Amino acid sequence: MGVDVLLGLQWGDEGKGKIVDVLTPQYDIIARFQGGPNAGHTLEFEGIKHVLHTIPSGIFRDNVVNVIGNGVVIDPVILKKEIDQLENLNVNVRKKLLISKKAHLILPTHKLLDKASEIAKGKHKIGSTLKGIGPTYMDKTGRNGLRVGDINSKEFKEKYNQLKEKHFALLKDSSLIEDITSLETDFLKSINYLKEFDHIDSEHYLNNAAKEGKKILAEGAQGTLLDIDFGTYPFVTSSNTITAGTCTGLGIAPNKIDKIVGIFKAYCTRVGSGPFPSELDNTVGEQMRKIGNEFGATTGRERRCGWIDLPALKYAIMINGVTELSMMKADVLDSFEDIFVCTHYIQNGDKIDYFPFELSDKTQPVLKKIKGWNTDITKTSNEESFPKELSDYISFLEKELNTPISIVSVGPNRSETIVR
Ligand code: GDP
Ligand code: IMO
Ligand code: MG
Repeated sequence: MGVDVLLGLQWGDEGKGKIVDVLTPQYDIIARFQGGPNAGHTLEFEGIKHVLHTIPSGIFRDNVVNVIGNGVVIDPVILKKEIDQLENLNVNVRKKLLISKKAHLILPTHKLLDKASEIAKGKHKIGSTLKGIGPTYMDKTGRNGLRVGDINSKEFKEKYNQLKEKHFALLKDSSLIEDITSLETDFLKSINYLKEFDHIDSEHYLNNAAKEGKKILAEGAQGTLLDIDFGTYPFVTSSNTITAGTCTGLGIAPNKIDKIVGIFKAYCTRVGSGPFPSELDNTVGEQMRKIGNEFGATTGRERRCGWIDLPALKYAIMINGVTELSMMKADVLDSFEDIFVCTHYIQNGDKIDYFPFELSDKTQPVLKKIKGWNTDITKTSNEESFPKELSDYISFLEKELNTPISIVSVGPNRSETIVR
């Protein structure tokens, strides 16, 4: 039995959490493969909204194991908070959560380094979530990192102190260093708490499970346009958010991957800095933000809004090998007379139809006007009752993207999902 993958095709926040939760009953194991608490995955059901940062989105369903893979970076303080919140809701996290011994730890000083890096970049800052993601992955590739499997070792405290001192040397701005005492107390308390959970060799666990016929869904974080290699560098995150990230972030071989579900919004958003050719920095964009409640699930920041971007989506589908698509938040466009689709870019005076080496702030979108459905679709429960214009929009996208759209989402709730 193979492994399926679900990941974002835009700049994150496509609705991954919601769809993983919807699909979880079809799986035995849900596994996060990269990213960390920079992610905010929202799930809504029974009138409650939940936001997960590190824990996979299968945690609310019974009889499903949730794995935090080796490719994830963990802030023990945030993870503890997440677990506490879930336990308060009577979710038996201890029974359902397994953590890879090889997952790297985010130290308090990683967060300070993240902040210092953003301050140093000034107006060229990335717009990081300031969760310490970049510095933690830098220590991982620099072969200095601390991993979950180290926390039971006698030398853990010594290794921690060594890394902290190294960070202090990098942090020339002493005002940032002063914050450390209370952060460190929380960190060490949370490390102790993490000892109560099951730490596993997740690559063995997952491959054995697959061999036994168990069904596994790998849950991506962020989105393809934030990928460290293929995203809008340097305005990206520090991990591989693409299908290949499943192989390195879980130890799953490429030939074990089956379905690859790519998620996108019926429009497009981005939070943080960086180019966004189809952005609507005007009242139309504001209208989308308001209707779509486009505020970051992790930082609360306003998300920038714009029209759907076909060259970027085609690129993301190619890089990931997407086999099917989920179109999210179609309902947000319910009140638009006309909607627009970015089909090409104008870059340096040339009209191009591909995602180039570098998009710049000057890259202009070429937009195609499409008649909107201008109808409330939030009560729609099947494809047959879609307004004609929505069906036309779906057919247009399927043809352009050469990939079937198997799910259309018409609201944040679990139930507001149409499987085609
Ligand atoms: P993720 O990071 O990809 O899991 O996405 P986020 O949770 O950060 O952002 C998606 C937001 O859209 C959340 O607030 C969801 O509750 C909400 N959402 C998901 N699907 C839909 C939908 O079809 N319609 C509307 N209106 N909201 C949705
Ligand atoms: P989910 O999983 C949207 C963005 C940040 C910033 C850049 C780098 O909820 O889709 P980082 O903290 O990783 O160093 O920030 O990436 N970013 C996200 N944007 N959704 C996310 O996750 C994001 N995680 C990071 O805003 O621009
Ligand atoms: Mg999110």
